[in-house]
Amino acid sequence: MKIIPGISTQVLAARIATELGGTVSLCEFKKFPDGELYTRVIDDIKDEEVTIVQSLMADSGLINLLQLIDAVEEAHNTTVVIPYLGYARQDKRFKPGEAISSRAIARGISFAGIVDRIYVVNVHNRAVLEYFDVEAKDLDAAPLIGDYIAQKGIAQPVIIGPDEGARELAKAVAAPHGFDYDVLEKKRISGDEVQIKPKEVSVEGKNVVIVDDIISTGGTIAEAASMLKAQDANDIYVTCIHGLFVQNATLRILNAGVKSIVATDTIESIFSEISVAKMIADELTK
Ligand code: R5P
Repeated sequence: MKIIPGISTQVLAARIATELGGTVSLCEFKKFPDGELYTRVIDDIKDEEVTIVQSLMADSGLINLLQLIDAVEEAHNTTVVIPYLGYARQDKRFKPGEAISSRAIARGISFAGIVDRIYVVNVHNRAVLEYFDVEAKDLDAAPLIGDYIAQKGIAQPVIIGPDEGARELAKAVAAPHGFDYDVLEKKRISGDEVQIKPKEVSVEGKNVVIVDDIISTGGTIAEAASMLKAQDANDIYVTCIHGLFVQNATLRILNAGVKSIVATDTIESIFSEISVAKMIADELTK
């Protein structure tokens, strides 16, 4: 199997290839003077089994993925791994006339009939998988976060999801290790401002690990951390699956009194201490 690394997901693609006992295929990426992207798969993929690995956290990443899919059209079999499927939060039409962005992207990826199957990691809403015309499966990295917390040896941590939408994630992180878990109540005021309404969680004197699927501006986590501090939580740690860390997210979170931030490598950053490579490699060889 040839692992084709997308422009945004080079390290994770290399780790997956290593897990499979090989190396990533060589590609060439460059920009034309007008900003348009050029993509070439250098390795010969004709009649090969290929797996493209590319997260979608910037619009150019989508262009790159579409180009890679086109470039491997002569492959025998094509799998696409999208560790972070961006736009999944626009999973339905909230107002008349809105684009269902996740559906538009799913249609774009699967329309040409080149892709045989798709894997994503902790997609924001599994319902969007229905938008792909081919088999699409969500892989759950929550147990990896639970294992990481256990290895860190944090004494009796309480796992907290910042909103009801994070309940399943908090449970999946906590349950295998018997950690307590709970969620807070969040109200979004604007694009980068949220209000966490106090809820009775017993965090007084306890170490807390906040878990969320996505950290974008950091507003949700900063607000959650401040509220937990006000409730006399002891040390507060933050973990997430997909760390976008846009604008001043890192400072907002650290200023809220958080001791450490850890994310997976679905999006590569200095916080990517947990790798999903083995989980993906295991799935590819099933
Ligand atoms: C929302 O539903 C998600 O699960 C995250 O809580 C949200 O995307 C985080 O965004 P931000 O970091 O901008 O508050």
